Amino acid sequence: MSLWSFKTTPALTEEQYERWQNLLEQRTGINFSQHKSILQSGLNQRMREIGIDDYDQYFQQVSAIPEGVGEWTKLVDRVSVKETSFFREPNAYAVLKNYLVDLISSEQKAQDYTLDIWSVGCSTGEEPYSLAIAATDIIDYLTAKIFLGVVATDISATALAVAKEGKYSARKIETLAPETKTKYFKPVANRYYQVSTELQRKLCFVQGNILELKDVPRLTMDVIFCQNVLVYFQRDRQKQVLDTLVHYLKPGGLLMVASGEASGWQHSQMKRTADESVQAYIKAQNS
Ligand SMILES: C[S@@+](CC[C@H](N)C(=O)[O-])C[C@H]1O[C@@H](n2cnc3c(N)ncnc32)[C@H](O)[C@@H]1O
Repeated sequence: MSLWSFKTTPALTEEQYERWQNLLEQRTGINFSQHKSILQSGLNQRMREIGIDDYDQYFQQVSAIPEGVGEWTKLVDRVSVKETSFFREPNAYAVLKNYLVDLISSEQKAQDYTLDIWSVGCSTGEEPYSLAIAATDIIDYLTAKIFLGVVATDISATALAVAKEGKYSARKIETLAPETKTKYFKPVANRYYQVSTELQRKLCFVQGNILELKDVPRLTMDVIFCQNVLVYFQRDRQKQVLDTLVHYLKPGGLLMVASGEASGWQHSQMKRTADESVQAYIKAQNS
């Protein structure tokens, strides 16, 4: 560890804060006005790691294109909030299960149907694995002959590395039902559990910025979960992202946003479900 690590970096001035906030919001959508301490501590952590104590010098380094791209990725890792858990927001999973039972029962006759699910802002993987577990349980229960593919994307490379590995502490999976643990996890060393290879094969992890979806091929999904990501975005950005996600849904597809997030959002092709404990929308069949 270098001596720099022990130096205290002064707090950002208002002007410096504005500059950093603008750069990060413009590129990631994350707005730090309610979370200034996250920006401050993330910046300080990364600057200490590389031995810089001048915000303006670091700003120049990070914002340079293309030389700053590698450092930019590392900074985004430090400032993005990655809190997550398995089956977070249980009501959302209850709605999902009902939706999947109806969908799979009606698609069961169809040959080679692929059930496509997307976890947007998947963090360290708990959400996409929960989605895969919920869908697999229903497919197995209905003995349906359909394929399942779960795409999981996030801007953070370190979060995705954890997600891809699929290894979680006993504490992380303690709330799961015993039969879920047995079916989908294998105990490994030091009280860690490894997601089964069979489940992992159904998932595909891709690094991607939710603001740059226009460059992503227009795959269409049965289900999109975009939970606890837009909470850090300004209202116009929330709308921009959700409007774009609508194009990635199949007719009749389900979009799940965290409860209270992007409230008030409306779209001509989307109808909010009756259950008010969740913020779920169904795309019109004739869209
Ligand atoms: C609080 S976590 C939510 C994880 C999970 N969806 C859940 O509800 O538990 C937010 C995630 O969104 C990601 N994120 C933030 N801005 C993003 C962006 N512009 N593009 C893609 N992912 C982003 C962060 O890296 C972080 O992993």
